[in-house]
Amino acid sequence: MIKPLVLAAGLAALAGTTAFAQSYPTQPITIVVPFAAGGPTDTVTRLVARAMSEDLGQNIVVENVGGAGGTLGAARVAQAEANGYTLLLHHIGMATAETLYRELPYSATEDFEYVGLVTEVPMVFVGRSDLEQNSLEEVIEWAKTEGEAVLYANAGIGAASHLCGLLFMNAIDTQLTPIPYQGTGPAVTDLMGGQVDLMCDQTTNTTTQIRDGSIKAFAVTVPERLDSLPDLPTTAEGGLPEFGVSIWHGLYAPSGTDEAIVARLSEALQVALADPTVIERFADLGTSPSSAEDATSEALEAKVRSEIDLWRPIIEAAGVYAN
Ligand code: MLT
Repeated sequence: MIKPLVLAAGLAALAGTTAFAQSYPTQPITIVVPFAAGGPTDTVTRLVARAMSEDLGQNIVVENVGGAGGTLGAARVAQAEANGYTLLLHHIGMATAETLYRELPYSATEDFEYVGLVTEVPMVFVGRSDLEQNSLEEVIEWAKTEGEAVLYANAGIGAASHLCGLLFMNAIDTQLTPIPYQGTGPAVTDLMGGQVDLMCDQTTNTTTQIRDGSIKAFAVTVPERLDSLPDLPTTAEGGLPEFGVSIWHGLYAPSGTDEAIVARLSEALQVALADPTVIERFADLGTSPSSAEDATSEALEAKVRSEIDLWRPIIEAAGVYAN
């Protein structure tokens, strides 16, 4: 039998939690981006954060915690207080790091609550603007000839750019030299400066530079050409019929965050993703916001679990590990 005093204490605690959740948020929220400022995850996060903060009636601060392919930032949120004031916006790396890292300081399936899917972004193969090659076929031929002399920028093991590069090197059976950065924001700056030769990055970080000619684009990594870059062939058209990768983003809270707070965040995310400015800006960058059905806890959890299973055998076959 439950003692009356224990029951009263339990009910009081529950009432306290509910009242806390009802008044949420009463202070600014931080969204951790696990990559450098100015890159694709940062761009998506800042657009969504601005619209979410209007709906929540509180400021949202974006904090960039780059390094170790996104795992440092994810670990920081996994260890944060579960009060709804520290969140994480991360991409496909949330699932691939589960295999790429034999030792990971968090678990994607145990240490987070899932707020919802945010967007899905195509990637593009890009190179420095003075490369002589003008097509993916020519890039493949050149990369096969030059091998490790080709400097291939990425954002570390676990990053989308790393994953895409790994698939590319496997597809052409050639090892290039990876040059890691804390995010593809600084990597694109170096690509524009000619310090590195090639990279595969999200359209949200490359569309403007492709349009103004400061980098060269060779192919988009999804099955259909994009409205935002209609002249760019797909990887299949460029000679890699089996090649495909698309990057999804999700919003997370630390495990143990009150259910009502997570539900409120999902609601604000759905409102943000229906915001005309967000839709327009996303479209210009070659992406689109997730639907209201996908911007939910259930949809993100299902995505994380299915993508861990999808990528595990592919990464194991490639035999590439961070530790
Ligand atoms: C970033 O925001 O810098 C990227 O998403 C990096 C990457 O994963 O390639």
